Formats: sequence, structure tokens, C-alpha cells
Amino acid sequence: MKSTNNIKKSLPALKKICIIGNGGRENALAWAFKKAKTVEEVFVIPGNGGTKEINGCEVIDIIETNVEKILKSCLSNAIDLVVIGPEAPLASGLADKLRKGGLTVFGPGATGAQLESSKEWAKELMRTAGVPTANYWSVTNIQEALAVLKKVKKPLVVKANGLAAGKGVTVPDSLETTKDAIQKVFEGHFGNSRDTVILEEILEGPEVSIFALCDGEEIIILPPAQDHKRLKDGDKGPNTGGMGAYAPTPVITANQLKEVNDTILRPTLKALKTRGINYRGVIYAGLMLTSSGPYVIEFNCRFGDPECQALMPLLGPEIAEIIYACALGRLGEAPKLSLQTGCSACVVAATSGYPENPRKGDHLRIKRKETEVMQIFHAGTKIDLQGNLITSGGRVLSVVAQAEDFDNAFSIAYEGMKEIDFKGMFYRKDIGYQVRKQSTQIKENK
Ligand code: AMP
Ligand code: GLY
Repeated sequence: MKSTNNIKKSLPALKKICIIGNGGRENALAWAFKKAKTVEEVFVIPGNGGTKEINGCEVIDIIETNVEKILKSCLSNAIDLVVIGPEAPLASGLADKLRKGGLTVFGPGATGAQLESSKEWAKELMRTAGVPTANYWSVTNIQEALAVLKKVKKPLVVKANGLAAGKGVTVPDSLETTKDAIQKVFEGHFGNSRDTVILEEILEGPEVSIFALCDGEEIIILPPAQDHKRLKDGDKGPNTGGMGAYAPTPVITANQLKEVNDTILRPTLKALKTRGINYRGVIYAGLMLTSSGPYVIEFNCRFGDPECQALMPLLGPEIAEIIYACALGRLGEAPKLSLQTGCSACVVAATSGYPENPRKGDHLRIKRKETEVMQIFHAGTKIDLQGNLITSGGRVLSVVAQAEDFDNAFSIAYEGMKEIDFKGMFYRKDIGYQVRKQSTQIKENK
């Protein structure tokens, strides 16, 4: 990693930031940006029911797909930096359009966002760059897929090619389940993703989320985080966007992180450059730490959520300026990122029916206020016409807490969660089981 120590700062002043998105990730970013000394205003488009509570953030009610309105609003508000949170607007080229309109944007253009929006494109890039990833076959119909299965004679992971909101991947336990998943994906169960399907060898090992902030040339790696993708305790149930996270995870060692920098992140950035892509945004590497070293399971082109919520409170107030420097292509001039000591824990509260069909419109009661070491980041919430805070999506909010050790961080987060209530509310009780002592695991309390 390149050190940014002792480099004279000469970036333009960062006063006004606009974040695009409506999730917990965007609220966590807004909260973190508000800590920067020079930042006067943070706008969020369209934000959610908790955005305004973040120390006076401004919500601008424009839908994410209305590019013209977003551009106009950012220009009229003299926004210095636009940060695009979710993958869908990145994949559809929002960053390109805003840059063309004269704005400074953190987030890759549509071509770079293919790291996430096309698994085939990402696998091909990894193959040519020599980045360690599972062997794969790209197929375009059932017959081709079955021919691959016949040849390899073992279960393979089945991945829909395009964005599928976290639902396009099946990790099978038998040849039968592989065949079943192939059938489903080509029948169109995962939206528009049925034209190309990736079959991939099954890898084993702990998973970890790594975030590299890139300015097109250079990178800074944030502390590693761990997500909990499955809906239920014990890593059971369907995959979700993520039910909780913690950072920094000790699952990956400093030596392995260096290996990730050298064998995965640097070669990936170089391969992007070779393809003429000036990648200014996050490379999120979803890794599996296999017995042969770290392998890429998937790339994403944005911060992970909820990992971002766990991470932001650990980062010093320089993070806003560092992200601005990335967007300007001038990471070398950014201040050095300071890190809090200790640990951060994030527990997500979802509503019944999530992830398939979450209920909506229930009133929320939040008795606990934020403290120095505990944040409440909203996601699927909104303010109704009568001014009430109601649920509006599957992952409703998160409680995030920091302490010197994980046991205490999770205990603060779970205590905070007990003071939140809405119909249908549920959350995993075992988030961070990897780093908590058994005796402190939270018992069922609802
Ligand atoms: P993805 O959407 O590619 O992150 O996949 C979702 C989840 O499926 C990952 O978090 C892994 O738990 C699992 N997965 C994906 N690819 C593989 C693989 N090749 N081997 C084992 N598990 C995988
Ligand atoms: N937490 C996983 C993701 O954001 O894709």
C-alpha cells in the first residue's frame, strides 16, 4: 500500500457533498462525512426516514433514475462531490452522466461497474489478470451447461450473469441441485440474467469483505469486514443483502491482506486501466480464504451494506477528503486516514417477509438515542404524510456500536436493539459469533 504520510495537502476545499441512495450504507456515509471539518452540507438523494436526523443532513426527493433532475439539483446546490452508493445507478451509467455534466463523482462509470454488473466480464478480467478466482465456464443454454456438468462430474456453483439483487447465486450440495439451479436460471427466475450463466467450482473457507478506495491509479485499503449473508442464526436460511457485520475482522491476517493487495487489488486495477477504464470508486472484493490463499468470490463496484455501516465509525474524519481525492484522481494528495482503535459491530433489523416479500407501512418506535459509541442507521424507513416514521423496505435499520472488544461492541448493539420496535421486526442474535465468546451470545428476547 502506498503511504500518504507527510504529503502536502492541496486539494480544493470540500464543502458540499451529495450522496445518491436510500439505504443504511448511504446514511452511514452521510454520518461519516458530517465529521469532516470543512464539510458544510451533506445532501442525500433520495435518503430515507432517518436521513434528516443525521446532524441536519438534507434530503432531496428525487428518484435515483431521474438523471436530469439529479444533475440539475447537484449543479444548483454547488455540490463539490457526488458519492453514488448502490450498484444499479452505477451500472446504468449515472457516474458517467454526472461527470459529463461537470460534477466530481466517486463511483465508477458503467464500463467499470461491469465488475459487478457482469459476472462474465469480471471473471474474464480476473482470468487475464491472473487474479485468483474459482475455475469457471460461461454457458448460454441448458444443453451447454449440462455438457459441462457431464464433463466435470461434480456440483458447480450456478451464477446468473447480471445484477440479481443478491439472489442470482446457488451453491449446490449435489449434481441434482446444480441441474435444478441451471433449469431455474434459464427459465428466467433471476430477471434478465438468463442469457449467460456462469458455472463455477465450489470454494471453501471463511469469507471476508475488502474495500479498496481507488483514484484510477492508486488504492487505499480499509479495515477488513465480515458480513452475515444468511437470513437466520447459524448461517441458515436464504441469502440476503446482509444481516449484520463487524470490523476489523481478525479472520484475515496482515500477511494475507498484503497478498490481497499484491495478487488481487493491484492486478485488477491494472487490468481496468489496460481496458481504458479510469476507475474512481470502491473495488469491493468478496473473498474466500481458501487453503491455497485468498480467492475472489465476486467483485462489487460499491461499498458493501451492512459492512459500510460497521466500518464508517472506525474511520477518522479524513475519510470524506480521501473519497474526494479519489474522485479527483488525486489520492496521493489526500490526508492520511486515521483509524479508531477497537471494534465495530452492526446488527440489522429486518421485517417479516424479507427477503422475498417484506411487509411495509408499520410504525416504528425508537426509544434509544444515539451515543458516542452507538449509532442507529436507517435503511427501509420513511416518513409518511402524517409525519410518522414507518417501515418501507426489508432491512429496516441497523444498530451499530463500538467498543474496545467485540463482546462489548455487540452487547451495546444488542442492548440498543431491545429499545426498537415495529411489527414484524426480527434480527439475528448471533452476529459476530466468529469473534464473540459463547457466554456472551445474545439470547432470544422477543
Ligand atoms: P456472490 O453473489 O457471487 O457473492 O455469491 C453469494 C454467496 O454465494 C457468496 O457470499 C458465497 O457464500 C457463495 N459463493 C459464491 N461463489 C462461490 C463459490 N465459487 N464457492 C463457494 N461459495 C460461493
Ligand atoms: N453485504 C453484501 C453486499 O453489499 O453485497
